[in-house]
Amino acid sequence: MIAIELEKVSKKYGSWKVLESLDLQVKHGEFVAIIGPSGAGKTTLLNLIAGIDRPDEGRITVMGKNIIKMSESELAKFRRNYIGFVFQFFYLIPELTVVENIEIALDLVRKPENKNAVYERWTGVSRIKVKTYKEVLDLLAMVGFDSKYYNKFPDQLSGGERQRVAIARALANNPPIILADEPTGNLDAENAKIISEIFERINRDFNKTLVIATHDKQLIKLADKKYELKNGRLYEL
Ligand SMILES: Nc1ncnc2c1ncn2[C@@H]1O[C@H](COP(=O)(O)OP(=O)(O)OP(=O)(O)O)[C@@H](O)[C@H]1O
Ligand SMILES: [Mg+2]
Repeated sequence: MIAIELEKVSKKYGSWKVLESLDLQVKHGEFVAIIGPSGAGKTTLLNLIAGIDRPDEGRITVMGKNIIKMSESELAKFRRNYIGFVFQFFYLIPELTVVENIEIALDLVRKPENKNAVYERWTGVSRIKVKTYKEVLDLLAMVGFDSKYYNKFPDQLSGGERQRVAIARALANNPPIILADEPTGNLDAENAKIISEIFERINRDFNKTLVIATHDKQLIKLADKKYELKNGRLYEL
């Protein structure tokens, strides 16, 4: 089955054509690496798949849904259900600990059906929080974190460790698709290797579909399919 399909997608900024009649098919559970020079449109492509940006022309279908036709609120729901995003610069909340950064992501996923608020006010104890805490620890275990890290703040972590927290956060909504924009671009070789192996595990053990824009040779090597983005289109390598 197809997880992501782009057909004849074009995107311009002003008169500058970034993507031009681009086609892409990604199967469920596939690990796709996208390479291409700076300015080629890799971030633009990921943003289109996530419904963060909209194309000028073409069709984009993700998990069987035509996302072109969606309103902003439908897109927000779509992202909550289907997409996890990992960025080059991590974007953790500096005032929150490792556990709290994940907890807030889980809370955001749940907000619409947070039925336990009344219970919490009544007893002073949140059932959902107790359950959430276990889920937070499970997510952190997926990126190899133990209790040593739980109460650290982002500025007390190395770049590689921050990216591991960001990956755990991207998994909080248990999305079938993970998009990552140069996730090792800001890391040294050793940390880049750790992050690459985490992506490999997420793909292999949890069957997540991965689309990763990267220049990282280790990460590219792990991908099932590799494309170069050039002149607005993708070419399989
Ligand atoms: N919001 C925007 N407004 C105007 N131009 C934009 C916008 N976003 C991207 N661009 C332009 O579109 C082109 C593609 O940008 P994009 O960020 O997708 O490239 P990239 O392949 O991710 O590059 P990098 O490797 O440097 O991250 C660039 O020329 C960029 O300047
Ligand atoms: Mg980019």
